[in-house]
Amino acid sequence: MPMTDRPDSSDAPAYVRSPSLGFFASLPVDRALVRYDLAGSVAHVEMLHRQGLVPAEDARAIAAGLRRIAGEVRSGEFPWRDALEDVHTNVEHRLAALVGPAAGGRLHTARSRNDQVALDERLWLRSAVRSVATGLVALQEDLVALARRLRSAPMPGFTHLQHAQPVTVGHHLLAHVWRLARDLDRLGDCLRRSDVSPLGAGALAGSTLPIDPAWTAERLGFAGTFENSIDAVSDRDYFAEFLFDLALLAVHLSAFAEELVLWASREFAFLAPVPELGGGSSLMPQKRNPDVAELARAKSGRVLGDLVALLTVLKGLPLAYDRDLQEDKPVVFDAAAAVDGTLAALHRLVPALRFDLPRLLDAAQDAGLQATDRAEALVAAGVPFREAHVRVGESLAAGGPTGTAPPSGAPPVAAALERRASPGGPGPVALDRQFARVDAMLARARESLSELVRKDGRVDAILTEGEA
Ligand code: ARG
Repeated sequence: MPMTDRPDSSDAPAYVRSPSLGFFASLPVDRALVRYDLAGSVAHVEMLHRQGLVPAEDARAIAAGLRRIAGEVRSGEFPWRDALEDVHTNVEHRLAALVGPAAGGRLHTARSRNDQVALDERLWLRSAVRSVATGLVALQEDLVALARRLRSAPMPGFTHLQHAQPVTVGHHLLAHVWRLARDLDRLGDCLRRSDVSPLGAGALAGSTLPIDPAWTAERLGFAGTFENSIDAVSDRDYFAEFLFDLALLAVHLSAFAEELVLWASREFAFLAPVPELGGGSSLMPQKRNPDVAELARAKSGRVLGDLVALLTVLKGLPLAYDRDLQEDKPVVFDAAAAVDGTLAALHRLVPALRFDLPRLLDAAQDAGLQATDRAEALVAAGVPFREAHVRVGESLAAGGPTGTAPPSGAPPVAAALERRASPGGPGPVALDRQFARVDAMLARARESLSELVRKDGRVDAILTEGEA
């Protein structure tokens, strides 16, 4: 059914049927929460029954109705109704149609849309982190595989985008892998702090009925339940943190993409113009544009914007729930989609990258790259570093512009790399150790990812129980 703001001729209240319906509606966005909403409702009605608040027969009918709705959503048959404003009312309305208003009317006992939406969001976040983490680990694996192939391929290392010291392509690529490792770590932290069920906080002050929030928390796979009902319905820290984590990840991907753009330029020419990088120009026959890298670079813009938008929505909100909070979802969903898309695009691109090794070697043979090494050789012979620095600087000045012609006797870059044995550096021995650590890090990442996949499976498990 097409999503429009067209008024619905239903029993909905007048303000909802008004032409400004789109202003109130969250359905076009929050229907993405429906699976989580349904699983949360199944857990809720089970708890209500255990606590003697809903008769067994009604509880069974409600749970079956909710699972049937899950099937309708999956097959695309669910009758979404714009006039019903959001995902929660759509589900409740459909449930009443399936099981009758008397039974259906019991589901919302001791629950408000305020704790309900917070629950849905936290369950959604699990899946979203799972998706981003999956893409992140895949990209890390691509980069590590490429780094292994090019582990000893020399290239100039840059500071200020100027030739600085010799490194290898492998060492350079692993720098990106470690950034991404911290991103993954941060997402795990975010999930750990968000691993709290808000269900049972009600509108803001719990309930007079004997509910059991710990039971629903456990049923839905949460580590614990909320400490304060006001905090539970107003907290959006999990989304703010997630957006920051995505923003920094997007910044890292953008910086990597920027290097690809530079390296693909004729001035650098470190990369061959493989078709996976992008297409040609519609006007200039000779052009090959690095479109994929450019788009990866640009997507970070909206993710940063999404973070600022959410923080601005949250700033100055009085406790507890405010309708402003409805505006959290569009930006969070947008950022997650942008990052997922960027990771997928880079996952296709990175294994296809072709480095021009002779060109890299040529650039790395720039003798200026070894100026520091020459100063360090003097230091090893007892000269104070500052004096060695001046001496080498003067000899470079006498020999013409830095880094054009190698001065006679400049050692080949491979030997220079060989000597860089300091820990974490680009020398072969240090690089061996680094690869071992990267492999161990990736093994741990894969393990936490499969744990997350298991935990995220809880929602589907609840919705398909008794189907087999
Ligand atoms: N659509 C709302 C949201 O996304 C659900 C909660 C509405 N709560 C309320 N008291 N109106 O935040």
